[in-house]
Amino acid sequence: ITIYVPQDAVALGLGANRVARALFKGAEARGLDVRIVRTGTRGMLWLEPMVEVGTAEGRIAYGPVTPADVEGLLDANFVEGGEHALRLGNPEEIPFLAKQHRLTFHRCGVVDPVSVEDYRAHGGYRGLEAALKRDAEGIVGEVRDSGLRGRGGAGFPAGIKWNTVMLAKSEQKYVVCNADEGDSGTFADRIMMEGDPFNLIEGMTIAAVATGATRGYIYCRSEYPQAFKTLREAIANGVKAGVLGDDILGSGKAFHLEVRLGAGAYICGEETSLLESLEGKRGIVRAKPPIPALKGFLGKPTLVNNVMTFTAVPYILEHGAKAYADYGMGRSLGTLPIQLAGNIRHGGLIEYAFGITIRQVIEEFGGGTASGRPVRAVQVGGPLGAYFPDELLDTPLDYEAMAAKKGLVGHGGIVVFDDTVDMAKQARFAFEFCATESCGKCTPCRIGATRGVETMDKVIAGIRPEANLKLVEDLCEVMTDGSLCAMGGLTPMPVMSAITNFPDDFRRTGDLPV
Ligand code: NAI
Ligand code: SF4
Repeated sequence: ITIYVPQDAVALGLGANRVARALFKGAEARGLDVRIVRTGTRGMLWLEPMVEVGTAEGRIAYGPVTPADVEGLLDANFVEGGEHALRLGNPEEIPFLAKQHRLTFHRCGVVDPVSVEDYRAHGGYRGLEAALKRDAEGIVGEVRDSGLRGRGGAGFPAGIKWNTVMLAKSEQKYVVCNADEGDSGTFADRIMMEGDPFNLIEGMTIAAVATGATRGYIYCRSEYPQAFKTLREAIANGVKAGVLGDDILGSGKAFHLEVRLGAGAYICGEETSLLESLEGKRGIVRAKPPIPALKGFLGKPTLVNNVMTFTAVPYILEHGAKAYADYGMGRSLGTLPIQLAGNIRHGGLIEYAFGITIRQVIEEFGGGTASGRPVRAVQVGGPLGAYFPDELLDTPLDYEAMAAKKGLVGHGGIVVFDDTVDMAKQARFAFEFCATESCGKCTPCRIGATRGVETMDKVIAGIRPEANLKLVEDLCEVMTDGSLCAMGGLTPMPVMSAITNFPDDFRRTGDLPV
């Protein structure tokens, strides 16, 4: 009997280890011969810890399971799929999952994350095998034709970036994965690294083969200890299995991969400060140009992509560019891993073709707010993304369509707020976040964010609200135009969207003297 218990960070936080122990002990006491496989999550976070059991009819899920439920589950003979109040049936038929387009995440929650054999048994390494039969131009051409764009947020065409690194002349090149997933409300990178790290490893290996890099680094944020541990174990197993190292899959090509842990700075998700940090220095933004593709890690040509960009690649190489590009709309092709969080009934990971509207995500997947109150504001694209009111929720998730509404797709995070939200306080929070996380290199961001907090405090207190709001708007203009990177450059987006879309929250009256 095989029982699958997730060990991704959310499930662990909700007691998955205690559930696993209780299951093991309970099964042992009943003389049942069970094997417990620790997996990642399928992304239905409100059902975690979701336990699955392998039966003659396929996997049957139960959840959310607490240690106190275990005896009852065993009494109900759940190991053979028995009836129980927590029985969810075939997990792949749960509408939240069944409705998705899981091109990238289909193995998450299914496989043993650190097993090369399990990865291969579920279709892994077919992309790299296909890549190894082609020349570098062929691989890069496939990535270009798929329309894949950088999933970190900027949406830069991956094929163009890969081509730049491929053409760069250097005795040493690097592939670096940005796994510093700092946006609030985002967790797709984490779920992938904890649930299917070989998909990332395979994507990075294909990138290395295409660009001529022989070394790679995954820069993982320190807040992700479980991802870090899983990646290290997966890499060690990969070296043993010959999918990493001096002779990958017997091709004679080398690719050495290491994981590095950040130290808790949001700005290290910006690619140049990430590289500084990777070199052992303080994470401060470098001016661009030169772009990292030409002069990156240790001054050498470096391909920096996000976890989600790399993990889209094995599918593209295995199934061809067209199969991927058939999903999506306009210039946003393929699927977007959407992360739904905040005040929402069913939060989690939704991989879906670009073009789905924000409202569809919230209503059809999220099932409305957790509080049951009406949705008032939705922030899309992380803490630097815009706050959308109800009137803008029919905007499709597409880079250009979102930009046309002064918003961001970003890394695909959606955070929902109900009608108790105070948007003036959210605007203040955006400045406060920037003041805390600014690297301090340029004045508009370093000073501007702090002045922004002070001025918003005055608006909130009702001190000359009109004049102070005007000051905030001026400040936003300076920060947008004068900041060196997206941290200072995009902080005005949440601020200005809050002011524009929720003007009532900024008309405060106070009793303080003018
Ligand atoms: P960017 O537009 O400057 O660059 C995008 C990428 O394209 C970079 O890797 C850059 O080096 C590369 N590039 C630009 N021109 C190139 C060329 N000619 N050839 C090859 N490569 C080229 O944007 P940036 O500053 O990297 O990212 C900003 C975005 O980051 C924002 O839009 C925001 O959505 C996102 N972001 C994501 C966060 C997260 O946690 N995932 C956090 C904060 C912001
Ligand atoms: Fe640093 Fe902010 Fe300037 Fe970016 S905008 S370089 S985070 S000070």
